[in-house]
Amino acid sequence: MAESRLEKSWKSLLKEYEAPSYAKKYILEPLFSKQDYLEPILDAGCGTGFFSNLLSEKGYQVISIDKNLDETQLHSYMKVKSDIESFNPVKMIIGDVLLINILSCLEPKKRLAVLKK
Ligand SMILES: C[S@@+](CC[C@H](N)C(=O)[O-])C[C@H]1O[C@@H](n2cnc3c(N)ncnc32)[C@H](O)[C@@H]1O
Repeated sequence: MAESRLEKSWKSLLKEYEAPSYAKKYILEPLFSKQDYLEPILDAGCGTGFFSNLLSEKGYQVISIDKNLDETQLHSYMKVKSDIESFNPVKMIIGDVLLINILSCLEPKKRLAVLKK
């Protein structure tokens, strides 16, 4: 059966949705490329792994954590499915921490605890 116009427009919308947003591609990505990082970088709330993958591809060791982790899309050195609050990297040495677009996903009363951690 032929694909309806509605289905085509939904597919096109989803394709755009997967693409990096303007701000990521043209503002954040160039800033990230200029910066040096301490490894391993912890990408807390990595999502689809845009920043984890960007930095992994530059040769950095990245630990990606997310409570809804989709490992198949990540090129990171370590992938952890966990809530940021319960993630306890006791014996790990952590370098720089990325918290991109994540605080707004947390309940306001939990934001300070996550930042302190
Ligand atoms: C808006 S996305 C940002 C993803 C990525 N940092 C980026 O900028 O492309 C927020 C991500 O945070 C994750 N997240 C939200 N609350 C979390 C929590 N308490 N612990 C771990 N991950 C969390 C969600 O699953 C989602 O993938």
